[in-house]
Amino acid sequence: MALLDIEILGSKILREEAAPVEGVTDETRRLIRDMFDTMYHAEGIGLAGPQVGVPRRVLVVDVTNEDESRHVHALVNPVIVESSKATDKAVEGCLSIPGIEEKVTRPVRVTVEALSPDGDPVRIEADDLLARALQHEVDHLNGVLFVDRLSPLKRGMLLKKWRKARAANPGRGAGSP
Ligand code: NI
Repeated sequence: MALLDIEILGSKILREEAAPVEGVTDETRRLIRDMFDTMYHAEGIGLAGPQVGVPRRVLVVDVTNEDESRHVHALVNPVIVESSKATDKAVEGCLSIPGIEEKVTRPVRVTVEALSPDGDPVRIEADDLLARALQHEVDHLNGVLFVDRLSPLKRGMLLKKWRKARAANPGRGAGSP
């Protein structure tokens, strides 16, 4: 088991567009294993390459939808090919911005195409929390954080709260959902 350091807001890599993976190799699979280890250790439900300092288009998620179906995915080069017009609003947090949460509006359903850890094409039709987590992680691959999806006023308030909490407790902290 290998735990990777989680990049925290302020880190440049979180704001960069991640590069596609050129070929799924043992190195990719090792990264995926380490990302799962890191995500579970931090008690998160999703993690993207840039969050562990790797600017590549790789994400992992482990979420349980409202119908109690569990979805565990590791996706390489994921692309959202369809998004529903219908949206909903639910609370999100991020391991890279520990300690803050806010409601974010996103499409309810998305279809994602990607490569599996074996390099095979996969297509996922996702709804509920899985759809939300996939969108959140694909955003990370594009240098976008969930706070960017809030109104400027709300974002400003949250980031102020976050900076205050960081100043009081500057350790690298996980523990956010
Ligand atoms: Ni995040």
